[in-house]
Amino acid sequence: MANTQVRFGIITEVHIVPPGTPEGFWHNRFLFDRAEELFDKAVRRCEELGVDAIAILGDLTHFADPDSFARVRRVLETTTRPVFVLPGNHDIDGSARPLAAFHRAMDLPHVTIAPVALALDPQIDLTLIGLEPGEAASGYAAVRSRTATGNDPKLTVVLTHFPPCAMEAMLSDAGLKYAGDLVNRAPLLESLTGIPGPLLIVNGHLHVHATIVDGRVLQLSVAALIEPPHDVTLLTIGIDDDGLPRVTRRACGLVETPDVTLPVLSERDEHWRFMGGTWTEDAS
Ligand SMILES: [Fe+2]
Repeated sequence: MANTQVRFGIITEVHIVPPGTPEGFWHNRFLFDRAEELFDKAVRRCEELGVDAIAILGDLTHFADPDSFARVRRVLETTTRPVFVLPGNHDIDGSARPLAAFHRAMDLPHVTIAPVALALDPQIDLTLIGLEPGEAASGYAAVRSRTATGNDPKLTVVLTHFPPCAMEAMLSDAGLKYAGDLVNRAPLLESLTGIPGPLLIVNGHLHVHATIVDGRVLQLSVAALIEPPHDVTLLTIGIDDDGLPRVTRRACGLVETPDVTLPVLSERDEHWRFMGGTWTEDAS
C-alpha cells in the first residue's frame, strides 16, 4: 500500500497546426486535421481517469504560430486540473523572443510552465526542464531550475521534452529514425544524476514508447499523440509504506491503427519499484 500516490496524465507531441497544413509524417502519418480534437480527447481521457495533474511534454504546436497557440490555449481552458507544461523544439519560433508566444498561450492560473523545480509533496520533488535555442542557432539546449524545494525527497521526478539518457543507438537498432539530441544532453544528464536518490525521468520528442533503466535512473520515453499509437499515459508515482518509490505506467492509444508498425519498444503496462539502489520490475 502506498502512503503517497500521485496520478499524472501524460500527453506529448500534440503538434497542432493551422488549417490547411499538408500531411506530416515521422514514424507514421500525423493526423494533423484532427490534432486539436485529439488534444481535447486526451485531456478528457485524463479527467475520466481521475488524474491529480496533467503533464504535457512539449511540441504542443508544429510551427509555433499564433493560431496554433490559440487552439492549445482553448483546450487548456477546458480543464481545471493542474497542468504542467514544457516547450518542445517545435514550440520555439525564430523571433527575438522565441518562447514569448508559448508563455502567453500557457499563462493560465492552473498551468505551471518549465523551467521550475517544486515539491510535488513532502516526499517527491518535481523538476520541469525548459528549452531554449542553442548557441549560434544550432540545436536546442535544456534549461534546469536550481531552486531548492525544501524537501529531502525519496524520489525526484524530471519531466523533459528531450531525453537526457542516450537513446540513439536503441532506436537505430530498432530501425527507427532519431529526432536528435540536446546540445547539452551530457551535461544535463550529469547535473540530474548529481541529485541524490532515485530519479524518474519522463520524456517526449522521439515519438517512441521505450524504457531505460540505469541503476537509480529510470527513463520512460512517451509516444506521440499526433501519430500512432496516439497515446495518453497514466503514470502513477508513489512511495510505499517501506519508504520505497514505485512507478506504474499504463499507455493507451486513443485511435486504433491496425496496419502500422508502432514505435513501441517496451511493455505498455509496466510496474517499477526502487530497491537496493536500483529500479526493478515489480510483479506485485
Ligand atoms: Fe514532436
